[in-house]
Amino acid sequence: MSEGNGNAAGRAVPRVALGGAVLYPGLLDPAAQAALVEDLRAVAAAAPFVRPVTPRGQPMSVRMTAAGRLGWVSDRKGYRYAPRHPGTGAPWPPIPAAVLALWRQVTGLRREPDCCLVNYYGEGARMGLHQDRDEADFSFPVVSISLGDSARFRIGGVERGGPTESAMLHSGDVLVMGGAARLAHHGIDRIAFGSSTLLPQGGRINLTLRVVA
Ligand code: SIN
Ligand code: FE2
Repeated sequence: MSEGNGNAAGRAVPRVALGGAVLYPGLLDPAAQAALVEDLRAVAAAAPFVRPVTPRGQPMSVRMTAAGRLGWVSDRKGYRYAPRHPGTGAPWPPIPAAVLALWRQVTGLRREPDCCLVNYYGEGARMGLHQDRDEADFSFPVVSISLGDSARFRIGGVERGGPTESAMLHSGDVLVMGGAARLAHHGIDRIAFGSSTLLPQGGRINLTLRVVA
């Protein structure tokens, strides 16, 4: 992983440690954030957001869709990656070029992610502490991009129930969970609904990029 090499404009990109992860605060400027929202509008038009249920049948508070070769889906049959949208049956739309460029910028990897999961947090939505472990190779990092309302993100260790720390993630922040942090427990305690004007309806979008296969 290459870090802190500056962005395309040659500006040094600040980064801070968050648990074992690396946070690039405000890596995306407001114009880049707005452009990404437009890209995601096209993704959602092709692959509508759904409210998944857990394997136990509990509706999640987050709405989800995806782009890329594979999307992460959850239903009564369990969690898994699937090549098609569960509702439309169509393949997922391609990952937007700007998202792939960001992946290359923060990971230095030529290998592209297979999945760009798109999570939408409306008012009151949250995500419990979990590990991302449905992928085959944990040597690839997970990259997370925050857009819209700020959120309290919590990160702990690989073991469940250990100490955690938290920080606010703001629109334009990019987080890289790699190395020892690849299997860290993490989640979203709550969002500060209405704290950003990026999304007209309010709320937060989080993109997570993963190599699956
Ligand atoms: C996730 O872990 O899937 C999402 C994390 C976030 O929303 O920042
Ligand atoms: Fe996750």
